[in-house]
Amino acid sequence: MIYLDNASTSLKKPPAVSQAILSAIQTLGNTARGAHGYSLDAASAIYDAREKLAALFNCPRADHVVFTANVTQALNTAICGVLSSGDHVISTDLEHNSVLRPLYRLQSEQGVELDFVPADRRGNIDYADFERLIKRNTKAIVCTHASNLTGNMTDIHRISKIARAHDILLIVDAAQTAGAKAIDMQALGIDILCFTGHKGLMGPQGTGGMCIREGVVIRPLIVGGTGVQTYRREQPDRLPTLLEAGTLNGHGIAGLSAAIDYINEIGLDHIADRKNALTQRFYQGVKEIDGVSVYGDLSREHAAIVTLNIGDLDSGEVADTLFEEYGIATRAGAHCAPRMHTALGTKEQGAVRFSFSYFNTEEEIDQAVEAVKKIAKQSSES
Ligand code: ALA
Repeated sequence: MIYLDNASTSLKKPPAVSQAILSAIQTLGNTARGAHGYSLDAASAIYDAREKLAALFNCPRADHVVFTANVTQALNTAICGVLSSGDHVISTDLEHNSVLRPLYRLQSEQGVELDFVPADRRGNIDYADFERLIKRNTKAIVCTHASNLTGNMTDIHRISKIARAHDILLIVDAAQTAGAKAIDMQALGIDILCFTGHKGLMGPQGTGGMCIREGVVIRPLIVGGTGVQTYRREQPDRLPTLLEAGTLNGHGIAGLSAAIDYINEIGLDHIADRKNALTQRFYQGVKEIDGVSVYGDLSREHAAIVTLNIGDLDSGEVADTLFEEYGIATRAGAHCAPRMHTALGTKEQGAVRFSFSYFNTEEEIDQAVEAVKKIAKQSSES
């Protein structure tokens, strides 16, 4: 089997990840819920992970790394925690439903004003549109670091300069880039960085979080037990506790921590270069095949994603053929990216997404190219 659906979730993890989860599940208590060794071990394992993530993303403080169950929860917390009735927010056509749905809900339920920077048929945006859309009450820009559909990356530094000049918060969805691209949140000017643990970071599902610049105020999405300040009626107001009601996924976080060790050992730049080489190898192999349309702009820095269609074949049927006849796992359909598909003109057909991991091999890429060639040939002959 050839797994090329790493933008959904990375399947192959560093071996130390499952070992760390097994050890954690056998030994860790609940952080901040006791003073015995098991609880202290959990606190220490979780704090280690915060420190590693703070170093990885250059978050100014480890206690400003907040854990959530996934990037969707992080984005909901960030978006709903800073925006209120009367605010205006700018986002883009590149966004995933994890950004779009909380924004649409705030728009319909609280009257938050919402504008989108449009994408062109190659999935690119015009940065001048951010300036054009800014209003007196613009509170935040919410933007992905890379489209989960095309893999096109956005120039976060350019956006943050615009945001800073107008005193606007910048919330970034790094679902497709965390662990895959270097992200320095201070150099890039990011106020809230939302990440997931189970894709490029190569950790387990059920892990994600946010890194928060000092001074940014976020209302909690959920409140409840924290193990501290029990007699206070309100949620404790210090990070990370403010945004971490309920027991954390300590076992998963221990696995994520091991995954970050692996990334640091191999080197993020090396991982990024290898994924880029695999992406380009696949792109170069498929782009000239008769009948194949590749989406996005592979001439610029890009996530490890190549998305295509073959003639007018339904994307779901192509993905089924790839899996059943060639043993290749991809993702077809709409990818939770309705505005991006609309901009590309692929709303009806969907598209087939190939997404690569550090662990994929050149042979796997070449087999996937051959499979696309064969399907395209068969389709042109039928
Ligand atoms: N957001 C993930 C994807 O793009 C699940 O496939």
